[in-house]
Formats: sequence, C-alpha cells, structure tokens
Amino acid sequence: MAQQWRGVLREYADRLNITDATPIVTLGEGGTPLIPAPALSARTGAKVWVKFEGMNPTGSFKDRGMTMAISKAVEHGAKAVICASTGNTSASAAAYATHAGITAAVLVPEGKIAMGKLSQAIAHNAELLQVQGNFDDCLDIARDLAANYPVHLVNSVNPDRIEGQKTAAFEVVEVLGDAPDFHFIPVGNAGNYTAYTRGYTQDLEVGNASRLPRMFGFQAEGSAPIVRGEIVRHPDTIASAIRIGNPASWKLALEARDATDGYFGAIPDAQILEAHRILSAEVGIFVEPASAISVAGLLERSEAGQIPAGATVVLTVTGHGLKDPQWALRAADGSDVKPTVVPVDTAQIAGVLGLGAA
Ligand code: F0G
Repeated sequence: MAQQWRGVLREYADRLNITDATPIVTLGEGGTPLIPAPALSARTGAKVWVKFEGMNPTGSFKDRGMTMAISKAVEHGAKAVICASTGNTSASAAAYATHAGITAAVLVPEGKIAMGKLSQAIAHNAELLQVQGNFDDCLDIARDLAANYPVHLVNSVNPDRIEGQKTAAFEVVEVLGDAPDFHFIPVGNAGNYTAYTRGYTQDLEVGNASRLPRMFGFQAEGSAPIVRGEIVRHPDTIASAIRIGNPASWKLALEARDATDGYFGAIPDAQILEAHRILSAEVGIFVEPASAISVAGLLERSEAGQIPAGATVVLTVTGHGLKDPQWALRAADGSDVKPTVVPVDTAQIAGVLGLGAA
C-alpha cells in the first residue's frame, strides 16, 4: 500500500525543532503542488512556478505553522489557544485546536474577514469574537491576554509558527533541485516572508541549495507600512488577509530582505484584481485576492525591467479562492458578471456557445 503524505512535522522531523515528546497534531498539511505557469512565463520571459498553498487542509499556508504551534502548545499542556486574525489564521487555529481536543479563541476585526474564513472558524468550534477595531487592535489584545491569562498565543509572534512555515521552502528546493532566483510572496505580518527566508537559509547551510533566492515581498498600497517605513493607522485594501498596519515580524522581515538582496513593494488594489483574473483565467489557479499580489508583484517588477530573461521565479499563493470567491464575479470594468441564462434547448444552447450547425 502506498504511504500517504504525513504532514510537515513527520516529513521534516529531522529539520525541525521537535522531539519524541512532541505530540504531533496534523491534518496532513504541506506537500502542496509547485505548478509551472506557462502563461506567466510568456508574459515575463522568466521560468515561473506557483506554489499553491490553497491546497492545504484549511485552504491556506497557515496550516504549516499551526501544526507546529498546536503540537507544541499541547506538549506544554495548553488547554486553550488564542490568536488575532484577518481570517486564515483563525480558520487554521480552530481546525487544529479542535483536532487536538483543546479550545481556540479567535479575535477578528468586525465585518472585515471573508465569509469563507468566518464560516470555517465557526464550523470548527472556535470561540470567535468580532472586535470593533482592526487586526492590529486584535493582535494587541491577543498578546495581552496570553501574557496575563492561561491561554497560549498562536499568532506568528510565536516562533513555532515560523518554524513550521519554513517547510514550504524545503518543498520548493526539493522540486527545483535548488533555490529559485526570485521568490515572490504576499506580506501582512511578514511572518511567512521570514519563514521562507529561514527555510532557504537552512537548505543553503546543509548544502541542499547553492544560493538564497532574492525574497520579493508585496503589500497592498493602502496597507504598506514596511514599504513606507511607518505604521499605517487605518490600513485599507480589498485584500482583507493582508490589511495590516503594524506587522508583527517587521524587524525580522527587514533582516531577511537585507540577507537575500530582497525587496518590498506596494501594489494598488486594481492591479491585485487584474493579477487575480490573470491567474484564474490564464493559469487555472483560483486564489484569494491577497495571494494574487505575488502575481501582480511579478508583473510590476518584470515591467520595471528587474527580472532577467530565463530567471527561475517562484510565486507563493497563500490562500484558496473559495474562501473569498466574490471577486471572480466582478469584471475588469467593475461591473457584475452575470452568467447567461438559456432555455432547456440543445440547438439554442449550441447557438449561444457558437458551435455552429449539428
Ligand atoms: N496571504 C494570506 C492569504 C494571509 O491570510 C496572510 C496573513 C498573508 C498572506 C500574509 O502572511 O502575515 O505571514 O505576512 N494572514 C494572517 C491571518 C494575518 O490572520 O490569517 P504574513
């Protein structure tokens, strides 16, 4: 019988900070596809691959960090975990906590998280509170609660999260045989940017890779504190997952940028949505808007002449399109997409489809 993928803690046990005493809480995360994207290669002249993290059990990359954070929390005897979230972390924390038989409390900005993510957290039995503030307010409170009450923090300020998330870089190196030249990634708290840099650095140190990729991170223009170099008090973007004005891993991200000859850029919402359409319609990968910023960032840097022909480029797309599907039903001009309605009539339908005569 073929053995199935065992989740990142078991697959990479020798490269992670776990011991025999660590109870492994897994839903089979990781092992996500690295998909060649000929349409993006044709547009840019680079060799473009997409790391599709929407294929994780709860539909986002957060599961890689959450298997680690919840396993460690259980190892340390935690009965309850807490996180602040723009949606995906809460969905993941809720699923892994309930699988482990412990409680997840989640704080989300009221009315600001995608319906799919809200549904996931509730379905998985989280104590979900909608806070009348933004994500940054939620994170401040979650940190406060973890410091003063018997509840374990599973946001990416918890190093276990970054530790688990670095496994995505291991997978990229395994498939390509080396690190890529460039790695493009969305940035909110900058935890994942930091995690990939750690994974690639570890692969370089042990000789699995011969170089580090240049790490290119992108924030939405209305929510770009790292690019601007200052906290954004009222971050705003349609990419709700990365609507963050005071990133938790800001300092680590700047160190990672400097270590990799990296870059941070800001992308307007209109370009995020255009990239979302290109990825869905030309490559066949459906993501949530925040994830499409990797594609938008590549197109922008390519147009700026910053991506040499033939360079190997990996784009991480972080969350599944089904979490926040409404954007696909909006046309490029902003109008609603209304699928054509037809009667039960083969000939008429053939006509509408332009199939000619039978
Ligand atoms: N993409 C998606 C889909 C996300 O949900 C997030 C973060 C990011 C990118 C950015 O990753 O924070 O490591 O830089 N979502 C967090 C959450 C904030 O609560 O789900 P980062």
